[in-house]
Amino acid sequence: MLETARKALDKPPRWRPRPRSVALWLAAVAAGAMGAVAISAPAQAALRDGAAIQQGRFIGFAANAQLLCNNQASCTSGSNATYRNIAATEFNQVTPENVMKWETIEQNDDQYNFGPADGIVAFAQANGMKVHGHTLVWHSQTPGYVQGLSAAAMRAEMQEHIQALVGRYANNPTVVSWDVVNEAISDSNGQLRQSFWLNTLGPSYIADAFRFARQADPDADLCINDYGIDGINTKSNAMYNLVQSLINDNVPITCVGFQGHLQLNQIPSTLQQNLQRFADLGLKVRITELDIRIPLPSDQNELQQQAQNYATVVNACLAVAACQGITLWGIDDGNSWLPNSCCGNEGDALLWNANFQQKPAYAAVNTALGGGTGQVPGTPGTPTATNVTASSVTLTWTASSGTVTNYQIERATGATSTNFTQVGTSTTTTFTDTGLAANTTYRYRVRAVNSAGASPYSAIVNVTTTGGTGQVPGTPGTPTATNVTASSVTLSWTASSGTVTNYQIERATGATSTNFTQVGTSTTTTFTDTGLAANTTYRYRVRAVNSAGPSSYSGITNVTTSGGSTGGNCTYRIDAWNDGYVAYVTVFGPRSGWSMPFTIGANNTIINSWNAIISPSSGTNRTATNMSYNGNLSAGQSTQWGFQSTRPAGGPLPTFPDCTPE
Ligand code: XIL
Repeated sequence: MLETARKALDKPPRWRPRPRSVALWLAAVAAGAMGAVAISAPAQAALRDGAAIQQGRFIGFAANAQLLCNNQASCTSGSNATYRNIAATEFNQVTPENVMKWETIEQNDDQYNFGPADGIVAFAQANGMKVHGHTLVWHSQTPGYVQGLSAAAMRAEMQEHIQALVGRYANNPTVVSWDVVNEAISDSNGQLRQSFWLNTLGPSYIADAFRFARQADPDADLCINDYGIDGINTKSNAMYNLVQSLINDNVPITCVGFQGHLQLNQIPSTLQQNLQRFADLGLKVRITELDIRIPLPSDQNELQQQAQNYATVVNACLAVAACQGITLWGIDDGNSWLPNSCCGNEGDALLWNANFQQKPAYAAVNTALGGGTGQVPGTPGTPTATNVTASSVTLTWTASSGTVTNYQIERATGATSTNFTQVGTSTTTTFTDTGLAANTTYRYRVRAVNSAGASPYSAIVNVTTTGGTGQVPGTPGTPTATNVTASSVTLSWTASSGTVTNYQIERATGATSTNFTQVGTSTTTTFTDTGLAANTTYRYRVRAVNSAGPSSYSGITNVTTSGGSTGGNCTYRIDAWNDGYVAYVTVFGPRSGWSMPFTIGANNTIINSWNAIISPSSGTNRTATNMSYNGNLSAGQSTQWGFQSTRPAGGPLPTFPDCTPE
C-alpha cells in the first residue's frame, strides 16, 4: 500500500462513539456553535444505543435539509418535528442527501451556497453525530457549466470546487469523511462509466479528485462510492481492480462505500465476503445508502422478510472489522427517494413507515446492533413508600444503571404473600398506586426493562395503608353469574351491611385455583368482567371496603365461559432470532370481542405488544384480549396483534392453541 494512504489510515480514527455522560452530553450541546438545538434522548433504547455503536460503529441516515433544518444554516427547527426528533435521537451519523452535491453547493460558477449543508453539520454537532460528505465528483446533479468545460478548465474547476467544499469543514471534527468519487463504474461491462468527467479528462480524473480532496483535508476518510457493488459480481470486481490500482499509484483513497440500494430478498449472499476483500486491501468499508425496497403495495409478510434482510446486511457489516457503519438512505418511507426518484413502483424501503411508525425492520436493526446496550438494566433500588393513605401509596426508588425503557411495578396483598402481579409501569423512578383497601398490608417490588429484557427485581417493601376508625363492612353475598359469553360475565351480589366505599372483585383462573387477583372495583353490587378466554373456568369472590378496611370475602362462584370458535379463525407467525422473537397473530371475524390464550417460555419477558391487552404480566400462560377498537370484526374483517419477547438461551417459542400457523 502507498505511503499516503497508509499515513491516512495510521492516524487515530476521527470517529468516536457518541458521548454518554451527562457532562459530555452537555458539552456537546454547548458546542452546537452554529446554533442548532439538541433534542434530548427518549427513554426507549435507540438504534445508536446498540452495543455495536457503543463499540465504535456508526448508524446513520441521509438527511433531508428541508425536513431537518428548513434548509437553514442555523438549523433551529425543521419542517417536520417528528422527523427531526427521530434524527436527533436514533442516529450518530448523518450524510446530507442532496445539499452537498455540486448543484446545490455551486449551482453557478463561484457562487457558493453552503447554508443548507452548514445546517446539517450544525445539527450533527449539536447531537453528537459525525457527518459524511456526499459527494464531490459525480456525473449526476452537476450543473451544465461544469460539463461543457475544456479538459484544463474542468480539472481546475474540480480542484477549486473540492478545495472550497472540503476545505470549509477540514478543521471541523464533526465532518470526518467524503464520497470523493461517486458511481464511476459502468453497470454493464466492468469498465469506467462513460461520463463527461471520463470523456473530457480520461481515467485520471479519479486520482486527481482524491489528491485534491487530500490537499483540502489532511485526515478525512476519502471514499469511492457506488451501487450494485454490494456482492461479488462484474461491477464489484471492476471496483476492486480500480481501487487496487489507485492504491498502487499512491492515490490517497482510504475507504469504499457500498450504497446498498437493495431489493427485497435479494441481499447478495457474498456481501460479507465482498466487504472483507476490500477491507483486506487495507481500506475501510461502509454501507452508505442502505434501503431495501418492496414492490408496492407491501404486505405484512414482506415487511417481515424485509426485517430479516436488514438484519442480514447489518450482520454482514458487523462481521467485518473494517466496516465502520451503516447509513440508511432516509428515515421514513414517506420521505424516501423511492418510489418517485428510482426503481419503478417499489418502495417502503426504510425503518419507519410514512406515519413514522417503526416497522419490523426497525426492531431487526436495533437487535442486530445489539439492542440497547445489549444488557438488561441493573437492579433498581428498593422502593420507599411515602404519602401512605387509606387507599393509596407513592413509591420511589433509585434508578437502575444502563438503558431503561420503563419500570414495572408489582404488588402482592398480605404481609408475606409472594403472589405478585403488575399494577403499573413508569418511565420515571416514582409511581403512585391507588384504589387500595384501608388497614391492609401490601408488598411492592419493581424491575427495569429495556430491549434486552428485564433487570432482577428490587428488594420488597411492605406498606400498610392507614385505617379508618369505624367498622369494616359486613361480608357481601356470594356473587351470581349472568350473561356468560365466550369472553365476559356479569356478577351480582347482595350488598354488605354497613358503610361501603366500594367492592373489590377478585378472580382466579381454573376450577380450583386460589390464586386470586383483583380484576376491578365497583361502587354498585354488580360488575362485568371482560376479556376472558373462551371455554375457561374462572372463580370470583368479592369483598367490601370502607375507610376502616376490607370486609371478609364472600363465598366463591365458579363460572365457565362459553366455547369460542377455535382453530382456523386465527393464524400466527413467529419471527425468531437467537434470544428473542416477534409473534404476529391475525384474528378473523366475525367476532364480537375476542380473547386468545397462549403460552410463552418460562423466562421470557414481553418487551412490547400491540393491538391487544396481554395478561397476566408474568408466567407461561397468558391471554390476549382485544382492544376497544379491534374487538368487533365482521365476516371478512381481520385484525393483527402481536408482541416482541426475549427468550434467554434460545428457549421455546410461544404457542397459540386456538390458531393455525401461517
Ligand atoms: C438521490 C436522492 O436521494 C434524491 O433526493 C435525489 O433526487 C437524487 O439523488 N445514489 C447516490 C445518491 O449516490 O446521491 C442518490 O440520492 C441515490 C443514488
